[in-house]
Amino acid sequence: MAPFFVLFLLASSLTQGYAQFQPKNEAFISLLITQNGLDFVKELLVNKAISSLVSLRLPNIEKTAKIPVVGNVYMVLSNITIYHIDVPSSHVKPGETGISIIASGVTCNLSMNWYYSYSTWLVPVKISDRGRAEVQVEGMEVGLTLGLENQEGSLKLKLKDCGSNVKDISIKLDGGASWLYQGIVDAFEDKIGSTVENAIAKKLTKGISSLDSYLKSLPREVPVDDHASMNVTFVNDVLFSDSSVGFETNGLFIERKISLPILDLDHKNSKLPILCTNSSKMLGITLDEAVFNSATALYYDAKFMHWIVDQIPDQSLLNTAGWRFIVPQLYKKYPNHDMNLNVSLSSPPVVEISNQKAGATIFADMAIDVLEEDEVIPVACISLVIQGTGLVKIKGNNLVGSIRLNDFQMSLKWSNIGNLRMYLIQPVVWTLIETVFLPYANARLSKGLPLPIIHGFTLQNAEIILSTSRIAVCSDVAFADSNKRFLQFH
Ligand SMILES: *[C@@H]1O[C@H](CO)[C@@H](O)[C@H](O)[C@H]1NC(C)=O
Ligand SMILES: *[C@@H]1O[C@H](CO)[C@@H](O)[C@H](O)[C@H]1NC(C)=O
Ligand SMILES: *[C@@H]1O[C@H](CO)[C@@H](O)[C@H](O)[C@H]1NC(C)=O
Ligand SMILES: *[C@@H]1O[C@H](CO)[C@@H](O)[C@H](O)[C@H]1NC(C)=O
Ligand SMILES: *[C@@H]1O[C@H](CO)[C@@H](O)[C@H](O)[C@H]1NC(C)=O
Repeated sequence: MAPFFVLFLLASSLTQGYAQFQPKNEAFISLLITQNGLDFVKELLVNKAISSLVSLRLPNIEKTAKIPVVGNVYMVLSNITIYHIDVPSSHVKPGETGISIIASGVTCNLSMNWYYSYSTWLVPVKISDRGRAEVQVEGMEVGLTLGLENQEGSLKLKLKDCGSNVKDISIKLDGGASWLYQGIVDAFEDKIGSTVENAIAKKLTKGISSLDSYLKSLPREVPVDDHASMNVTFVNDVLFSDSSVGFETNGLFIERKISLPILDLDHKNSKLPILCTNSSKMLGITLDEAVFNSATALYYDAKFMHWIVDQIPDQSLLNTAGWRFIVPQLYKKYPNHDMNLNVSLSSPPVVEISNQKAGATIFADMAIDVLEEDEVIPVACISLVIQGTGLVKIKGNNLVGSIRLNDFQMSLKWSNIGNLRMYLIQPVVWTLIETVFLPYANARLSKGLPLPIIHGFTLQNAEIILSTSRIAVCSDVAFADSNKRFLQFH
């Protein structure tokens, strides 16, 4: 039942090359489920277990008992149905290799039919009677221990131990002879207790094993878009402390299908500490900046980062006439020609996270093309280094961002129209960055990066904390019961 932790599945992977030379350090996203998070999942689990037990039919119990004065009586309890369970208190605690859950003071109300028959030599006919009974099983304690481990990249949940004991049973009979009450108590007390215990153990075992198959079936890649996935393979051991359970996943972006280029991540990645400052949050997700850099490297490699700009807010800048005073020789050579800008990234953008800010440096070449009839004539190319500051937010279960311009440098890469006066061009380029490039980048960033969270759970009151080379998302979660496969006891 405790698999909850599993809730948040996320993963990403590293390039194969990287994985080969640093097999132990492939964790770039880590997840920590705090005591509050464990409590939250435990509540879900207990409630699911309760609702799966209510209306449960238990097997009939029969017995022949010797009743003083009456003699040997054959008795049957049938149609034994649990109709109410109360779990006044339960606790979940992580241990060294797993999690234990204890529910105490559990009461369980059952209804059933009773029947007895006997015959004596005194009366030659068989005597029988039947009626209804209500039984309350009280003070039950139910405990289970769950093992949770990383098995070849997936989480393996195992019920290691499940035990219960019943403190007391009270029985209310409808009708029946005067000896019957004590007769049923003596003959069936233990049996009713163990039948209830077995039923609970069986349900829990079922529930845990279906949760285990659910976990096993979770994909190792979470699609981000048509081209990229996040590799959500679990890496390293599950980390248990006395108040939390931690997971690590690779977390890097990978190409969907085709194999990934080798990333050059000169990253000394040791254990990823969780940076949440508010310990009452249920969950902490820490993303290393390598996750973002794997994304930019992937898109760069996928040749995504090229585009032709032929529409801008100030359309006059896409005609040589607009550049008449800035680059007179351009206008002279191609008077009143339309132009476009061919922008391509010259290397993958670099994302850097510090405790003050998340920033990105973008390296781009902007070729200026003049359009002449059917011909596109590149006339000059300007190299740009754009520094932006990112604002990171949570939208739904996605980490989304926006970027604003901090600074940029430009230099002339080549020119067919002689030297350009960069100080004159600078304001124009600044305008283009502000009005064309950043809105474009922000439109993409606003879609964001899906945090690998199990379907049905949503982040609530999330808080983002930046630190050196990492972003942590500290959040509570809510569960909408839309995931029918998660926690199934039937
Ligand atoms: C996903 O991550 C795992 C663990 O780091 C790694 O072994 C595997 O090769 C990765 N998958 C891809 C497609 O990169
Ligand atoms: C069996 O129990 C259920 C629920 O307590 C009750 O509705 C039903 O009438 C019972 N059936 C018989 C045959 O007594
Ligand atoms: C369960 O049984 C106890 C004792 O008979 C009774 O007091 C209690 O009201 C019952 N609960 C429900 C929900 O019927
Ligand atoms: C910590 O998080 C909890 C739960 O989201 C919230 O109620 C509380 O106000 C937060 N405390 C601080 C100091 O931010
Ligand atoms: C844009 O520039 C790239 C290289 O910088 C070049 O390969 C590509 O053909 C150009 N596209 C157009 C339409 O000019």
